[in-house]
Formats: sequence, C-alpha cells, structure tokens
Amino acid sequence: MSEQSEQQPVPHVVVLFGANGDLAKRMIYPALAKLGAAGRLPAAYALVGTGRHDVEDYAGVIAGSVDDESSALVERSRFQTSDADDGADLADAVRQAEQEVADEAGVDVDEVRRLIYLSVPPGSMPDIVAMLGREGLTDRARLVVEKPFGLDLESSRQLDRAIKDVADEGDVFRVDHFLGKEAVQNVLALRFANRLLGSVWNRENVQSVSIEVPETLGLEGRGSFYETVGCLRDMVSTHLSQILGFVALEPPADLSAAAVRDAKAAVFDALRPFSKDDTVFGQFDGYRDDDDTDDDSQVETLVALTAHVDTERWRDVPFHLRTGKAMADDRRTVTVRFREPEPALFGETGDAGHPHELVLDLSDDAKVAIELRGKKPGPELEVAPATLRLDYAEDFPDDDPLAAYERILLDVFHGDQLLFARADEVDRLWEVCAPLLDDPPEVQTYEKGTWGPTPPWER
Ligand code: BG6
Repeated sequence: MSEQSEQQPVPHVVVLFGANGDLAKRMIYPALAKLGAAGRLPAAYALVGTGRHDVEDYAGVIAGSVDDESSALVERSRFQTSDADDGADLADAVRQAEQEVADEAGVDVDEVRRLIYLSVPPGSMPDIVAMLGREGLTDRARLVVEKPFGLDLESSRQLDRAIKDVADEGDVFRVDHFLGKEAVQNVLALRFANRLLGSVWNRENVQSVSIEVPETLGLEGRGSFYETVGCLRDMVSTHLSQILGFVALEPPADLSAAAVRDAKAAVFDALRPFSKDDTVFGQFDGYRDDDDTDDDSQVETLVALTAHVDTERWRDVPFHLRTGKAMADDRRTVTVRFREPEPALFGETGDAGHPHELVLDLSDDAKVAIELRGKKPGPELEVAPATLRLDYAEDFPDDDPLAAYERILLDVFHGDQLLFARADEVDRLWEVCAPLLDDPPEVQTYEKGTWGPTPPWER
C-alpha cells in the first residue's frame, strides 16, 4: 500500500455524483485539495461534478469547501447535470474532459482512467449505475460507492446486481471511511508486528472487546436521512462491524487486499446474527421535533448490542458495540479487556476498578493506551493502576497522517482495495443485521447528553 501510494497516479477524470451534497463539501473536496497540495493527485486530471439540479457557481462551491480557495481543484472542475434516465450530456462532458487531460499529459485518451464516485442516497444508486453502463462510462473506470450499500439484504443484492452488470468486482470500491482512519490500520500493525500483543489476542487472555462510537452531535440537518437509515444501518452494519472485522480476524497470509479481505470476510461468516435479546435501541428526546422526522418515529439513534464471533479464537468472548447520536461523549475507541492473571497473587484488582486493558483511540489524533497494574510506591507490596501510552503526534512528530477520506481516495486512484468492503462482506453483514431489521427492539427514549439506556451487557 505505502510504496505505490507515494507514486503519482496515472491521468484521471473524476466524476462525482452528489457534487453539491454535504459529504462532497465536508469530505471529498477538502480531501482532493489536500492530496493535490501534497503532490499526490495525478499530474493531469479533471473533476466533473454532477447531479440532477444545476449548480450555478460550482467553482464557488468547491472554493468554499477547501482551505486554499486558489486550489488547482477549482480550476480543474466543471459541472454537468445528469439523471438516471439521461446521461448523454454527462457522457459528452466526461469525454471532453478526458481529451483535455490526455492532451495535457501527452497520452492517448484510452490511457486516462475514470474514477466515478457515487455520493448519493442508496435508493438512487442502481439506476445511476445502469445509466453509467448504458453510456459506456464504466469503461476504464473505478466505481466508488458510498455507504449504506442498500437498506437491507434485498436492496443490497439488487444494487450489487446492478453494479456487477457494468463493472468487475476488482473495480468496485465500497467506502467505509472508518477503514481509512490510521488507527484502524494500526490494529493490524499492533497485532501482527508485536508478539507482545499478538500472542494474547484470543479467548484465553481476552475477557471482552468494546467498540464504542458515542457522538455528541445530533441530527445536524440529516433528519430525513436518519428517518430512512437509522443508527443500525448508518453505523453498526458498516463502521462498527468493519472495525470488529479487523480486530477479530485470523492472521492473513500476507497484507495483500485479497488476503486481508478474505480474513475479514471469514470473521463476518462467523459473526452470529444479532439478536433482539442482546440489543438495545434508543432514540434521543427531541428527535421527533425535527422538521424532517415523524412525530411518532420509531427510528433508533442509538444502538448497544453484544455480538459473538463463533471462532475458536473468540468463542464466549462478548463484543460490546455501542454508538449513538446526542450522547454524553464523543469518541471512537476499541477496548480490549484482559482476563485476570492466574494465580491472582494480587487479588481481583479488576473488580477494584483497576481494569487491565488496551485502549485504541481511533480519532485522527490517534493514541494507544495500555492500562496496567504497577507496584504502588511505598512500603507495601500493593498494586495501583498505571498507563503505558503511545501518542502518535508525539512519537512521530514529522509524519503527516492522512485524513480518512484522503487515504480512501488515494487508494482508489491506485486501485488498492484493502481498505474497502467486498460484496460478500456486505451481503453477510446484512444477513447478520436482518433479525433486528425484521423485528426491531422497541426504542427507548434517552436524554440528550447521556449514555442512553442501560446496554444489554449491564442488565
Ligand atoms: C458517517 C455517519 O458515516 O460517520 C455519521 O453517516 C457519523 O452519522 C460519521 O457521524 C462519523 O464519522 P467520523 O469520521 O466523524 O468519526
């Protein structure tokens, strides 16, 4: 991954659906601009933004989204309306941009690759994908698909069929931006580059694993999105499950995309379908007051559930997953809690509030902490909690971490699929979620700024 990431990608035309959308403005333009400033974009490229409605000042939209308003991205962009029934004008605009890029790079137009980014709601995707096929736009293209991938097993399979009709799996990049976070990749490094950790990563030594993404933010204008999607699909079937996949996988044969994704897919195969008895759904008080939500909406804004991975390594080790909006804290953490040592010469210190655990902070300012027990200074042979810390900003001061969307986009330019979800993984994760989608637990109201209802593992 790293070697090729430092080579400049071949000439490209980027086609962005949802070009005037929130995700494009908050994540995609800033990431492209930063990659450009770092010399990581192709030397010759163009961006064609598209959507159903015209955008009068597209250059202004991009300039308003990036730090450097004079970014080359602004100059290299243009907008063309399109819809799923008629993509002829878009196809013309793409071909024209391609010719310009080819001329600039001094290459044949067939050597210009297409990166087609679908940042649109799940319902619109299959028809857009079919249109791309009809217009011949999927030739020489990599197709980037934003989550959620459908809304359930059936719609996901429908989307997958539409994609497979026009593209090979090797050209499909299903984005789960959590996998672009440095710290998630660090799970692999910590486990497989350190015997100290790798050797205890199993049921003999691990008591439980918690994957927690509480967010303090509420709907932030995404009421209608949440009404159709909800927290289980938005966060659990995607981000939290993908993190679980990395934490729980068996050592892959090597670090290739194929080997790592095979190992992750095997975890999902062994992931027991989520059960209503092990799940709590919450909805924050005030959710129904939003203009875009139903007055008696039953949509969950919080999910807490216990997952089980039925492999020899993880049998009987609970995985506690919790995430929600308008909660008491804002963090993204994986906590691996270790069992008490045997014999317990120092007593059951875990019960005394001295947990023995590894905490991985997945935020951009990544940190790893190992909570240990050390001897308390003084005359007695007593233990007290002590922390070993790895602070990236301090330990690697000269290195510049890539933000998640920078990493994701860079990997698409280079065609590296390691950090993207494969069709079989997505399919299996919908199967795992199906019991809760078919028969959801009743939502329990919680006050904003709290931890929400009691999670199943504390009941
Ligand atoms: C998105 C979800 O995929 O991830 C949002 O749709 C969520 O609801 C966001 O807030 C969290 O991402 P990050 O990068 O801020 O941790």
